[in-house]
Amino acid sequence: MEEKWWKSAVIYQIYPKSFQDSNDDGIGDIRGIISRLDYLEELGIDAIWISPIYRSPQIDSGYDISDYQDIDPIFGNMEDMDCLIEECNKRHIRIIMDLVLNHSSDQHKWFKEAKKSKDNPYHDYYIWRDGKEGEVPNNMMAYFGGSAWEWVPELKQYYFHQFTPEQPDLNWHNEKVRQELYQMICWWMDKGIQGFRLDVIDLVAKEPDLCIAENGPKLHEYVRELSRNTFQKNPEIVTVGEAGNTGVESALLFSAQDGSELSMVFQFEHMDMAHKKENQINWVLPFDLLELKDILSKWQVELYGKGWNSLFWDNHDQPRIVSRWDTDSAYREKSAKMYAMLLHGMQGTPFIYQGEELGMTNVSFDSIEDYRDVAAKNLYERMLGRGYTKEEAMELIQKDGRDNARTPMQWDKSIHAGFTKGTPWIMENPNYQEINAEDERKDPDSVFHFYRKLIQLRKEYSIFVEGKYSLQDKENKESFSYLRSSDTEELYVVCSFVNHCTRVSVPKRFLENGVLLTGNYQESLSEQLQPYEGRIYYRKKNAEENE
Ligand code: GLC
Ligand code: CA
Repeated sequence: MEEKWWKSAVIYQIYPKSFQDSNDDGIGDIRGIISRLDYLEELGIDAIWISPIYRSPQIDSGYDISDYQDIDPIFGNMEDMDCLIEECNKRHIRIIMDLVLNHSSDQHKWFKEAKKSKDNPYHDYYIWRDGKEGEVPNNMMAYFGGSAWEWVPELKQYYFHQFTPEQPDLNWHNEKVRQELYQMICWWMDKGIQGFRLDVIDLVAKEPDLCIAENGPKLHEYVRELSRNTFQKNPEIVTVGEAGNTGVESALLFSAQDGSELSMVFQFEHMDMAHKKENQINWVLPFDLLELKDILSKWQVELYGKGWNSLFWDNHDQPRIVSRWDTDSAYREKSAKMYAMLLHGMQGTPFIYQGEELGMTNVSFDSIEDYRDVAAKNLYERMLGRGYTKEEAMELIQKDGRDNARTPMQWDKSIHAGFTKGTPWIMENPNYQEINAEDERKDPDSVFHFYRKLIQLRKEYSIFVEGKYSLQDKENKESFSYLRSSDTEELYVVCSFVNHCTRVSVPKRFLENGVLLTGNYQESLSEQLQPYEGRIYYRKKNAEENE
C-alpha cells in the first residue's frame, strides 16, 4: 500500500482574521493569505488549515456558520477563494478547510426556519425539548459557561447548544441533517479542497436526554457514514478530527488504518494536563515534566501501527507554547527550538500554528476591553460573579486565554507589525519590534530557520515518519529523551526543560557513529545539556543489529 502523503507532511494553521490584512480594514483576509504564500512556501509546509472563513456573524470567530457554501465578506468572496485554491495548487500547498458540523449559527437559514414552528420541516434539524420557562430540561452546561439550554418563548421550548446560545447544536440523529452536511462537503471537494479539519467531532452524537455530550454511543457509526459519503471518494483527502475528549481507544477508531473514519485525531491530553477544573473554571497548574512524558509517550506507543495522531503545541484555542511554561524571557528562542525538536521528532503529523515558527509569545492586555474572545469575556463575568477579583480574572485570561494566539501575525517592524495599516480588530503584541518574520528570515540562526530545517528533515529521513518510539531515561525530571527506531535507522532526541545545565546520557553508539542532525546550541558537551538545549541524533544501524 502506498503511504499517504499526510504521514510525512507538515501542516500550517492559519487564523485568517490575524494573518494578513489586504485592504486595511483591520481584519485579515483571503487576499492577505495569497500575498503570504511565498513565505509559507519558503517555510516548506505541505498544507494549510484555515480556521473558518464561511459566512458567519462572528460570535465565536467564525465557528458559528450561517452559510457553509459562502465566504464571509470580511474575508473576501468566492472569487478570492478560487484564486487561493489556484495559487496554492501552483505551489503544491494543499488546503484544509475547517468544518464545523456540530452546530451552526442561529442566523443559519435552517435555524431561522426551525424557530418558526414545531412543524416546520427544519425544526428537527436542531434539538428541542418542551418545558416551562426557568425549568431547564436538565443541568447540562455549555462549554463557554451557563446552561446548555436556551428558551424560545414563542415555541415554549428549549434548544440545546454546547457553546454560545448563538451556536445551536445540529441534530445528527436526523438523517436529513447528515445528508445536507455530506452534500456541502462534496461541493467543497469538487472545488478542489483536499482536506478537512473537523471541529469538535467527538460532540456530534450527543444524547442530551442521557446527559451525554462527548463520545455519544452512535459517534463512530456516524463518522463512518460521513466518511463513506464524502472523504472516501477521493483518496488524497486528509481529515483531522478535533477530539478534545477522546481517549486512545476512541482515537484508534477515528484514525483506523483501513481509512473507514478519518486520517488522524487532534487531541488535547498533553495540553489539558496542566489544568484543574473547578466550577467550570480552568486553573493552570505548575508544569510537571514527568506527566508530560507519560502523556506524550502513551499516545506514541499506543497508536503505533494502528492509528495516527497530530502533533501540536499551539493553536487558536491555546496560549503560546513559549509562554505556557514561562520560558518566554531569557530563553525564548532556545526553548522555542527545543519544544519544536521534541515534537517534530515524534510520530504523527506536525501542525505549526501561525507565529509559532517565529517563537511568538502570549500577550498581556491590561483590560478586558482589549480582549475579543467570547470565551474570555464570559469567563471574566463568571469569575466576578463567583467572587474572584478583577485581577484574578485578568491573570487567568492573560495566562490561558485564547486571544494569546489570536493577536496579529508579526511580519515586520512597521506599524501594526505589518499586519494592517488600519486599526487591527485585536491589538498586536507590542513585542513585534523584537519578534518578526522579516528579521528571522534574514537570520540563519532564527526560530524560523530552525522550523524550516525540521520540516526538511522529516522529508529527508523516513525514520521521522516510521520509527518506533520508546521513552528513555524515564524518571529524569529535568530532561526528556526518546528513541525512534526502524530496522535500518534510529533517532535519539534529548531535550532539557530547565534553565540551568543538567547531566544527560546519550547512548555511545550515537556519539561514536551517529550524526547530530540538529540542535539549538553551536557547541555542546556530550554528557551535559545547557539551558533548554535540545538535540536530534541519527545513525544507520549495522546489518547485525536486528538479528
Ligand atoms: C473548537 C474550536 C473553537 C470553537 C469551538 C466551537 O474547539 O477550535 O475555536 O470555539 O470548537 O466551535
Ligand atoms: Ca481585510
